[in-house]
Amino acid sequence: MTVLQLKVTVTFALCVILLELAGCRQDMHNQPKFKPLRASEFFPDGRSARPLVPGTVDRSEVNEDPAYLTGLQNLQPVLTLPLPATRQVLERGRERFNIYCLPCHGELGDGNGMVAQRGYLHPPSFHDERLRRAPVGHFFDVITNGLGGMPDYAQQIPVDDRWKIIAYIRALQLSQHAAPADVPADIRGQLGQPMPPSQEGITGKTAPKGMAPPVPRELPPQTGVPEKPEVQR
Ligand code: HEC
Repeated sequence: MTVLQLKVTVTFALCVILLELAGCRQDMHNQPKFKPLRASEFFPDGRSARPLVPGTVDRSEVNEDPAYLTGLQNLQPVLTLPLPATRQVLERGRERFNIYCLPCHGELGDGNGMVAQRGYLHPPSFHDERLRRAPVGHFFDVITNGLGGMPDYAQQIPVDDRWKIIAYIRALQLSQHAAPADVPADIRGQLGQPMPPSQEGITGKTAPKGMAPPVPRELPPQTGVPEKPEVQR
């Protein structure tokens, strides 16, 4: 083999190796990933797609109305509830109110909750003229951002529940300021009549004259828990 032949052969071989090397460059062409709905042996259920995290919300279901999310419309507090005040809404509102607001504002919303009685700042009564006239957006703002001595509840109470609490506060306000004309005509005659004892609340309190009796609350059934838990030795 002449020197020239050798050079040609070596150059050719080098070219082949370089070409092959270039062909082997994968870089990001081959990524370790699963295409949608591909099977996987990695997870026990054989699916590469993982189940949705509980509480995942479909983006199309999100209410993006700024009035609903902020309680403001054109920088003014909204005047009407952005959800219908159905019985279900009011019941949820009452439950959330009793958890988050009652300790300071009291069961009636008169500002006489146990925390206030024990020395915390006294909240104003929801039955004050000013707060009876305050737009619902103002309540939303106070729950979301707090006000003075009132802590904010943005972290604890989701937007939807804030509105339900506000719907319930409106019901509380009505409960203390309803006129006889607000009572349906067919039962107006019962106003002022003594209430049957069975309709007293568990606190034994009777409703003031002319008011609907307090709703009796059901106590949870006894669950048969032993009085002294067994001690493991
Ligand atoms: C830790 C006690 C506390 C809790 C719990 C609490 N508040 Fe208050 N709230 C206050 C105090 C104190 C004020 C008076 C604030 C001030 O004027 O400095 C107040 C004021 C208010 C006001 C009146 C705002 C105004 O315009 O004067 C509203 C409305 C209100 N709270 C709603 C709520 C709601 C709804 C909840 C439950 C989600 C709640 N609060 C829970 C203590 C509390």
